[in-house]
Amino acid sequence: MDDPSEAYGPNRQREVYASGMLADQRPEMPVSPDELEEAAMEALSEEARAYVAGSAGGEDTADRNREAFRHWRIVPRMLRDVADRDLSVTVCGQEFSVPVLLAPIGVQSIIHKEGELASARAADSLGVPFVSSSAASATMEEVADQLDDAPGWFQLYPSADPDVTESFVRRAEEAGYEAIVITLDTPTMGWRERDVANAYLPFLDGEGVANYLSDPAFRDSLDAPPEEDEQAALWRFIEQFGDLSMDWETVERVQATTDLPVLLKGILHPEDAREAVRRGVDGVVVSNHGGRQVDGAISAVEALPGVVKAVEGTLSAAEAQSAADAQSASDAGDTTNGESDDEFAVLFDSGIRRGADAIKALALGADAVLLGRPYVYGLAIDGEEGVREVVRNFLADFDLTMALSGRDAASELDSSVLVRPDE
Ligand code: FNR
Repeated sequence: MDDPSEAYGPNRQREVYASGMLADQRPEMPVSPDELEEAAMEALSEEARAYVAGSAGGEDTADRNREAFRHWRIVPRMLRDVADRDLSVTVCGQEFSVPVLLAPIGVQSIIHKEGELASARAADSLGVPFVSSSAASATMEEVADQLDDAPGWFQLYPSADPDVTESFVRRAEEAGYEAIVITLDTPTMGWRERDVANAYLPFLDGEGVANYLSDPAFRDSLDAPPEEDEQAALWRFIEQFGDLSMDWETVERVQATTDLPVLLKGILHPEDAREAVRRGVDGVVVSNHGGRQVDGAISAVEALPGVVKAVEGTLSAAEAQSAADAQSASDAGDTTNGESDDEFAVLFDSGIRRGADAIKALALGADAVLLGRPYVYGLAIDGEEGVREVVRNFLADFDLTMALSGRDAASELDSSVLVRPDE
């Protein structure tokens, strides 16, 4: 599809209802997120099912991610002419036709044989930005090759081996990715009861390691190439996958390696958001990794308002400071103006299932949302076509819910859309 607006609400509804009423065809893809998950579970092996649907501990945070959206309620406005709608948003200076990116999800080869390549193709056909995972089953170059019409970003897991981290960033830049998203919440994997019970870690099966096995710096660290001793390479992967000693210097090193925008994924605490702004990072993704890391953690949507407030406060303090600096510079005859970076992006994921969730996240101050599990459930059911169906339904729902709430632009959704009645 060339024009992603073809996915928008009324067109999608007409298409579906016409196939049903004229050709007696119902959509093959389940429409409700819960039925979608159920159908995906049937398509997956026992281990993959646990790996994809499972979260940390008792999965309390994963449940809360979804449940917490219900506390905020949309208050629709009437008679506001919403015939022409604009779903586009600008994130880190890049224009996206929709306010939705596909989240970095690794190891997609355990979900479907075409894995990330199928998901990236689906994203591309819809013009929906795709975030390619460090832990993908195809190399970042192969994934980038699928992306002609959609923006691609690269998600980085900083490695315990700084040479590997640097090499990944350089490769990502070379492959044409347009931003680096550093995931901070996974310096090691959370305690995922389902995977522990299954004694299952896909990486040790050789899944999700394509970026590493193909990486010159990673290969240099091996005694023998992976083609000769795969087991040793996989254990080396486990040793250097995460870095529990990661700190702000890790971020600084990435910033020094690349000119691409750098975003931090996994921010939940306002103080971390403030520090990100102060350190000249380009954006944050408010996320708890779908509840897969810290069970009992705050839901992502409950963390969002605090992060947004912290970002806005820190940006305006910086602006006031730079205006004061500019004033004293101009008093001193220096005419360079102290422009501040007002493009700091706040993205959001964890619990986005329906259009209304995305509307609430945008209204609470996110610039865009990342869709996670639902799209890989589509992948499990029907490969590339399955991803496309899920994303098209999601965009249709978003568009209709926005229109029926009396709003015509995704970029203009703000807190006036919502109330929180039980507060
Ligand atoms: C993830 N997520 C993730 N995040 C990341 O930064 N790099 C990665 O490789 C992965 N891999 C991954 C695998 C699987 C199976 C899942 C379910 C998730 C987290 C992902 O980007 C996103 O934060 C969550 O999926 C959001 O939660 P929901 O909305 O999908 O529940």
